[in-house]
Amino acid sequence: MLSFSLTDEQKMLQETAHKFAEQEIRPKAAYHDKTGEFPREILQKAFDIGLMNESIPESCGGGGLSVVDGCIIAEEIAWGCVGINTARAANSLAVTPILIAATEEQKKKFLSPLCEKLSFASFGLTEPGAGSDAGSVATTAKLVGDEYVLNGTKCFITNGGVADLYTIFASTDRSKGHRGLSAFVVTRNMPGVSAGKEEDKMGQRASNTSEVILEDVHIPKENRLGKEGDGFKIAMATLDKSRPGVAASSVGVARAAMEYASEYAKQRVQFGQPIAMNQAIQFMIAEMAMKVELARMMVYKSAWLADNGERNTLWAAIAKAYAADAAMEVSTDAVQIFGGYGYSREYPVEKLMRDAKLLQIYEGTNQIQRLVIAREVLMPH
Ligand code: CAA
Repeated sequence: MLSFSLTDEQKMLQETAHKFAEQEIRPKAAYHDKTGEFPREILQKAFDIGLMNESIPESCGGGGLSVVDGCIIAEEIAWGCVGINTARAANSLAVTPILIAATEEQKKKFLSPLCEKLSFASFGLTEPGAGSDAGSVATTAKLVGDEYVLNGTKCFITNGGVADLYTIFASTDRSKGHRGLSAFVVTRNMPGVSAGKEEDKMGQRASNTSEVILEDVHIPKENRLGKEGDGFKIAMATLDKSRPGVAASSVGVARAAMEYASEYAKQRVQFGQPIAMNQAIQFMIAEMAMKVELARMMVYKSAWLADNGERNTLWAAIAKAYAADAAMEVSTDAVQIFGGYGYSREYPVEKLMRDAKLLQIYEGTNQIQRLVIAREVLMPH
């Protein structure tokens, strides 16, 4: 049976996340955008009220929430500031390979510390030579006795400079290409792990994006997730689960831009009337509303499929590509409606436009999403 309504619990979750975004995030979003300072204090508060680590099972101290619930949180927090949401949600992305492939013992060991006190985790897939072509990871993991020795450099890693735990994808057999990749848990305190250059980004400046360098890092064999060679599939399955959340945060950005533009259009008087009276503006607002509403439908469908154990590869890619493009288009039109003021840093919409750009790039560019969609259509599973 179809239902488009949230449960009472989900409505409460939405309200909590919205209130948090309004009271704790919005007032500080411009500051973190300007300075690039990591929003640790805000994330501490989010952690304290259960708005972080929501996907970690309750048995490990997490929220035990569904992918749909995670999307409800992501939309609201990103409505407050998507850079802060990216910093917050990086933990959920990083722990997904553990949720997918770890044994119960590994889950307890690696996930419980994240829920005991605020700390950060990063997903380490991307490398200088392995972006869209994720299968060409060059970081190596060599089995020596009971340990793996890891060597390589990861780049553009969200929260890479502040994380205590990393899920790292490395090759245990380079001759096998993507089938030679394996997944590992690496902790920051291991000798040889360091954070490299931090990116000075155009948008989403509140999140930390850094290189992670692995130099002769010895890790116990027990830190491997799944079997040798499972790494690429674990990474792909992780992205299927996380892309609905990126789409949800895109809805948050688009919604914020639409609200700011609508309010402004009602107040701004030109030629003797509010510009909202002009059809040219109304059509732009209508396009914004269509994009926000459609994108949210796709978010819920892609997340619902994941929660119900169904293959959501097609829908996760559709939702991510559509919603991220929507966020870019809606925020660009919001700047247009604000006119000269929209281009000024005194008003909030130029930040949304800069922030939105990254949504079209990370967790698989929107071109890669289209590639995935085309493959799913042409060669259905
Ligand atoms: N689930 C499970 N398995 C999958 C899968 C999925 N969704 N998609 C592919 N696979 C399997 C295939 O069945 C195939 O299996 P076999 O080896 O048994 O044949 C294998 O994986 C290889 O698949 P492909 O032939 O499709 O692989 P490919 O190399 O042609 O390309 C790709 C796949 C879709 C382009 C992939 O490389 C991709 O998604 N690239 C984008 C990477 C990405 O999203 N990076 C984001 C990094 S994280 C980030 O940005 C977060 C952050 O910190 C902000």
